[in-house]
Amino acid sequence: MVEIEYKNTRVKLGDSDLVYEPAEDSFLLADAALEEAEPGMCILEIGAGSGFVSAVLRANTPGIRVLATEINPHAARCAKANGVEVIRTDLFKGIRSGSRGASFDLILFNPPYLPTSEEEKVPGWLNYAFDGGASGRETLDRFLDDVRDYLKPGGKILILISSITGLEAVKEKMMKIGFEAGVVGRKKISFEELMVVRGELS
Ligand SMILES: C[S@@+](CC[C@H](N)C(=O)[O-])C[C@H]1O[C@@H](n2cnc3c(N)ncnc32)[C@H](O)[C@@H]1O
Repeated sequence: MVEIEYKNTRVKLGDSDLVYEPAEDSFLLADAALEEAEPGMCILEIGAGSGFVSAVLRANTPGIRVLATEINPHAARCAKANGVEVIRTDLFKGIRSGSRGASFDLILFNPPYLPTSEEEKVPGWLNYAFDGGASGRETLDRFLDDVRDYLKPGGKILILISSITGLEAVKEKMMKIGFEAGVVGRKKISFEELMVVRGELS
Protein backbone atom coordinates (compact mmCIF):
# COMPACT_ATOMS: atom_id res chain seq x y z
CA MET A 1 0.00 0.00 0.00
CA VAL A 2 1.46 3.38 -1.06
CA GLU A 3 1.36 6.08 1.60
CA ILE A 4 2.37 9.73 1.71
CA GLU A 5 3.35 11.77 4.71
CA TYR A 6 2.57 15.49 4.98
CA LYS A 7 2.42 17.77 8.02
CA ASN A 8 2.04 15.14 10.78
CA THR A 9 -0.33 13.10 8.60
CA ARG A 10 0.12 9.71 6.98
CA VAL A 11 -2.36 9.06 4.16
CA LYS A 12 -2.85 5.72 2.41
CA LEU A 13 -3.39 6.09 -1.32
CA GLY A 14 -5.78 4.03 -3.37
CA ASP A 15 -5.18 2.58 -6.83
CA SER A 16 -4.06 5.59 -8.92
CA ASP A 17 -6.28 4.38 -11.81
CA LEU A 18 -9.32 4.77 -9.54
CA VAL A 19 -8.54 7.47 -6.96
CA TYR A 20 -6.95 10.92 -7.46
CA GLU A 21 -3.44 10.94 -6.05
CA PRO A 22 -2.70 14.07 -3.97
CA ALA A 23 -0.60 16.50 -5.99
CA GLU A 24 0.46 20.18 -5.94
CA ASP A 25 -3.18 21.30 -6.02
CA SER A 26 -4.01 19.15 -2.96
CA PHE A 27 -0.98 20.50 -1.06
CA LEU A 28 -1.86 24.12 -1.89
CA LEU A 29 -5.47 23.67 -0.72
CA ALA A 30 -4.39 21.85 2.45
CA ASP A 31 -1.96 24.66 3.33
CA ALA A 32 -4.63 27.34 2.78
CA ALA A 33 -7.15 25.33 4.80
CA LEU A 34 -4.69 25.03 7.69
CA GLU A 35 -4.32 28.84 7.69
CA GLU A 36 -8.10 29.26 7.82
CA ALA A 37 -9.09 26.49 10.25
CA GLU A 38 -9.58 27.32 13.92
CA PRO A 39 -10.25 24.99 16.84
CA GLY A 40 -13.94 24.16 17.19
CA MET A 41 -14.85 24.86 13.55
CA CYS A 42 -17.24 22.69 11.55
CA ILE A 43 -15.68 22.07 8.14
CA LEU A 44 -17.04 20.38 5.00
CA GLU A 45 -14.83 19.15 2.18
CA ILE A 46 -16.54 18.41 -1.12
CA GLY A 47 -14.74 15.87 -3.34
CA ALA A 48 -12.39 14.44 -0.72
CA GLY A 49 -10.60 12.01 -3.07
CA SER A 50 -8.17 9.99 -0.93
CA GLY A 51 -9.17 12.12 2.07
CA PHE A 52 -5.79 13.88 2.06
CA VAL A 53 -6.92 17.48 2.76
CA SER A 54 -9.45 16.48 5.43
CA ALA A 55 -6.94 14.17 7.13
CA VAL A 56 -4.27 16.91 7.23
CA LEU A 57 -6.80 19.32 8.76
CA ARG A 58 -7.90 16.82 11.40
CA ALA A 59 -4.32 16.00 12.37
CA ASN A 60 -3.28 19.63 12.79
CA THR A 61 -6.28 21.52 14.18
CA PRO A 62 -7.60 20.46 17.58
CA GLY A 63 -11.32 20.21 18.19
CA ILE A 64 -12.53 20.60 14.61
CA ARG A 65 -15.24 18.49 13.00
CA VAL A 66 -14.60 17.58 9.37
CA LEU A 67 -17.23 15.99 7.15
CA ALA A 68 -16.57 15.17 3.49
CA THR A 69 -18.45 14.09 0.40
CA GLU A 70 -17.16 12.22 -2.63
CA ILE A 71 -18.91 10.91 -5.76
CA ASN A 72 -16.35 8.21 -6.64
CA PRO A 73 -17.01 5.09 -4.53
CA HIS A 74 -13.35 3.97 -4.67
CA ALA A 75 -12.22 7.38 -3.41
CA ALA A 76 -14.92 7.42 -0.70
CA ARG A 77 -13.64 4.04 0.57
CA CYS A 78 -10.05 5.33 0.52
CA ALA A 79 -10.99 8.49 2.46
CA LYS A 80 -12.81 6.35 5.04
CA ALA A 81 -9.71 4.17 5.42
CA ASN A 82 -7.82 7.38 6.19
CA GLY A 83 -10.20 8.15 9.06
CA VAL A 84 -12.29 10.75 7.22
CA GLU A 85 -16.05 10.85 7.81
CA VAL A 86 -17.32 10.75 4.24
CA ILE A 87 -20.69 10.51 2.50
CA ARG A 88 -20.70 9.08 -1.01
CA THR A 89 -22.83 11.55 -2.89
CA ASP A 90 -22.98 14.23 -5.59
CA LEU A 91 -21.74 17.54 -4.11
CA PHE A 92 -24.09 18.43 -1.18
CA LYS A 93 -26.83 15.84 -1.78
CA GLY A 94 -27.80 14.12 1.45
CA ILE A 95 -26.48 16.90 3.67
CA ARG A 96 -29.22 18.93 5.29
CA SER A 97 -28.87 22.61 4.57
CA GLY A 98 -28.62 25.47 7.09
CA SER A 99 -32.17 26.04 8.26
CA ARG A 100 -32.83 22.33 8.78
CA GLY A 101 -29.57 21.15 10.27
CA ALA A 102 -25.93 21.21 9.28
CA SER A 103 -24.18 24.44 8.57
CA PHE A 104 -20.48 24.92 8.27
CA ASP A 105 -17.89 27.56 9.13
CA LEU A 106 -15.70 26.61 6.20
CA ILE A 107 -16.29 24.62 2.98
CA LEU A 108 -13.43 23.38 0.77
CA PHE A 109 -13.40 22.09 -2.79
CA ASN A 110 -10.59 21.05 -5.10
CA PRO A 111 -12.91 20.41 -8.06
CA PRO A 112 -12.31 18.90 -11.47
CA TYR A 113 -11.13 22.17 -13.04
CA LEU A 114 -9.80 21.30 -16.51
CA PRO A 115 -11.76 22.20 -19.66
CA THR A 116 -12.44 18.74 -21.10
CA SER A 117 -13.81 17.62 -24.47
CA GLU A 118 -15.47 14.25 -25.12
CA GLU A 119 -12.16 12.87 -26.51
CA GLU A 120 -10.20 13.99 -23.45
CA LYS A 121 -12.33 12.14 -20.90
CA VAL A 122 -10.52 9.39 -18.99
CA PRO A 123 -12.29 6.06 -18.50
CA GLY A 124 -14.20 5.21 -15.34
CA TRP A 125 -14.68 6.99 -12.03
CA LEU A 126 -11.33 8.81 -12.21
CA ASN A 127 -12.81 11.10 -14.87
CA TYR A 128 -14.65 12.92 -12.04
CA ALA A 129 -11.28 14.11 -10.74
CA PHE A 130 -10.40 16.01 -13.93
CA ASP A 131 -13.43 16.69 -16.11
CA GLY A 132 -14.63 20.26 -15.62
CA GLY A 133 -16.78 20.12 -18.76
CA ALA A 134 -16.24 22.38 -21.77
CA SER A 135 -15.64 25.50 -19.63
CA GLY A 136 -13.65 23.77 -16.87
CA ARG A 137 -16.18 25.26 -14.44
CA GLU A 138 -19.22 23.00 -14.80
CA THR A 139 -18.91 21.19 -11.45
CA LEU A 140 -17.58 24.33 -9.74
CA ASP A 141 -20.59 26.35 -10.96
CA ARG A 142 -22.99 23.73 -9.55
CA PHE A 143 -21.06 23.89 -6.25
CA LEU A 144 -21.29 27.70 -6.17
CA ASP A 145 -25.03 27.60 -6.94
CA ASP A 146 -25.67 25.67 -3.72
CA VAL A 147 -22.82 26.43 -1.30
CA ARG A 148 -24.46 29.41 0.48
CA ASP A 149 -27.22 27.16 1.84
CA TYR A 150 -24.63 25.15 3.78
CA LEU A 151 -22.65 28.00 5.33
CA LYS A 152 -23.14 29.79 8.62
CA PRO A 153 -23.51 33.59 8.41
CA GLY A 154 -20.02 34.95 7.75
CA GLY A 155 -18.92 31.49 6.57
CA LYS A 156 -16.01 30.99 4.20
CA ILE A 157 -15.09 28.86 1.21
CA LEU A 158 -11.73 27.88 -0.25
CA ILE A 159 -11.66 26.57 -3.79
CA LEU A 160 -8.76 25.41 -5.89
CA ILE A 161 -8.64 26.50 -9.51
CA SER A 162 -6.08 26.76 -12.30
CA SER A 163 -5.29 29.74 -14.50
CA ILE A 164 -6.94 27.65 -17.25
CA THR A 165 -10.20 27.56 -15.28
CA GLY A 166 -10.56 31.35 -15.56
CA LEU A 167 -10.03 33.33 -12.35
CA GLU A 168 -12.16 36.32 -13.39
CA ALA A 169 -15.19 34.18 -14.31
CA VAL A 170 -14.95 32.35 -10.97
CA LYS A 171 -14.59 35.57 -8.94
CA GLU A 172 -17.46 37.20 -10.82
CA LYS A 173 -19.80 34.29 -10.01
CA MET A 174 -18.69 34.27 -6.37
CA MET A 175 -19.34 37.99 -6.00
CA LYS A 176 -22.77 37.67 -7.66
CA ILE A 177 -23.86 35.24 -4.96
CA GLY A 178 -22.61 37.41 -2.11
CA PHE A 179 -18.98 36.47 -1.47
CA GLU A 180 -16.03 38.77 -1.10
CA ALA A 181 -13.47 36.93 -3.21
CA GLY A 182 -9.67 36.98 -3.31
CA VAL A 183 -6.70 34.75 -4.06
CA VAL A 184 -4.90 33.43 -0.94
CA GLY A 185 -2.50 30.89 -2.46
CA ARG A 186 -0.65 30.53 -5.76
CA LYS A 187 1.78 28.06 -7.31
CA LYS A 188 3.14 28.00 -10.87
CA ILE A 189 3.50 24.51 -12.29
CA SER A 190 4.58 23.92 -15.90
CA PHE A 191 1.81 25.27 -18.15
CA GLU A 192 -0.55 26.64 -15.51
CA GLU A 193 -0.79 28.52 -12.25
CA LEU A 194 -2.75 26.94 -9.43
CA MET A 195 -4.69 29.28 -7.16
CA VAL A 196 -6.72 29.01 -3.99
CA VAL A 197 -9.65 31.42 -4.12
CA ARG A 198 -11.16 32.39 -0.78
CA GLY A 199 -14.72 33.58 -0.47
CA GLU A 200 -16.29 35.11 2.62
CA LEU A 201 -19.98 35.87 2.91
CA SER A 202 -20.36 39.62 3.20
C1 LIG B 1 -9.03 17.10 -8.20
S1 LIG B 1 -9.69 15.79 -7.22
C2 LIG B 1 -9.25 16.34 -5.58
C3 LIG B 1 -9.24 15.26 -4.54
C4 LIG B 1 -8.76 15.70 -3.15
N1 LIG B 1 -9.65 16.67 -2.56
C5 LIG B 1 -7.37 16.28 -3.22
O1 LIG B 1 -7.25 17.52 -3.13
O2 LIG B 1 -6.41 15.51 -3.39
C6 LIG B 1 -11.45 16.12 -7.30
C7 LIG B 1 -12.29 15.15 -6.50
O3 LIG B 1 -13.67 15.59 -6.54
C8 LIG B 1 -14.50 14.46 -6.76
N2 LIG B 1 -15.74 14.94 -7.37
C9 LIG B 1 -15.91 15.37 -8.66
N3 LIG B 1 -17.18 15.72 -8.88
C10 LIG B 1 -17.84 15.51 -7.70
C11 LIG B 1 -19.20 15.68 -7.30
N4 LIG B 1 -20.13 16.13 -8.16
N5 LIG B 1 -19.54 15.38 -6.03
C12 LIG B 1 -18.59 14.91 -5.15
N6 LIG B 1 -17.30 14.70 -5.48
C13 LIG B 1 -16.91 15.02 -6.74
C14 LIG B 1 -13.69 13.57 -7.66
O4 LIG B 1 -14.14 12.24 -7.68
C15 LIG B 1 -12.28 13.74 -7.06
O5 LIG B 1 -12.05 12.80 -6.04
